[in-house]
Amino acid sequence: MLCLDLAERAPERGIVGVDIDEAKLASARAAAAVAPALDNVSFLPATALAAQRGPFAAITVVDVLYLLPPRRQEELVTSLAARLGPRGRLLVKEMAPRPRWKHHWMHAQEVIATRLVRITASDHATLHFTTPTVLAGWMADAGLTVDRRRLDRGRPYPHHLVVGTAGAGR
Ligand SMILES: C[S@@+](CC[C@H](N)C(=O)[O-])C[C@H]1O[C@@H](n2cnc3c(N)ncnc32)[C@H](O)[C@@H]1O
Repeated sequence: MLCLDLAERAPERGIVGVDIDEAKLASARAAAAVAPALDNVSFLPATALAAQRGPFAAITVVDVLYLLPPRRQEELVTSLAARLGPRGRLLVKEMAPRPRWKHHWMHAQEVIATRLVRITASDHATLHFTTPTVLAGWMADAGLTVDRRRLDRGRPYPHHLVVGTAGAGR
């Protein structure tokens, strides 16, 4: 939805969406083809991500990192940071392991989504919810200026957003 919305709002933008779930990719492509078709967005398997060198003005990772082991999360954040253009932004929306009650509630729901009803595809056995502090540290180590925002006030889910901005001299 985010990719389609971004593509629809600005035809001059080029948008690439990636996922490991072929069914979701097919749904996204079908939605983009509904008249008036969007010709500035493409949807690719995650295996094609390495070939997407950029530079990108913005990269979003929304509720995906927790499906990867911590080492892969860090590698992905570092590698995406390197593909930003001047003043490019990396936006990572995740769910934090705090506050505990929100985490327990969300964790139970994600176990059901990934293991029981399987509406969320994952190629790893366990879920890893990274703190905003750790995430911000990875971005800072990658040379980005980092801003963090809690998005969970008034909500039962521990949503948070970490935004890294690249320098002008890339
Ligand atoms: C909770 S959903 C979030 C989907 C979308 N970003 C959104 O906000 O609506 C997690 C998505 O991550 C995808 N996913 C899981 N492992 C992935 C990986 N290694 N690379 C890319 N996408 C992955 C799943 O197929 C699923 O579509």
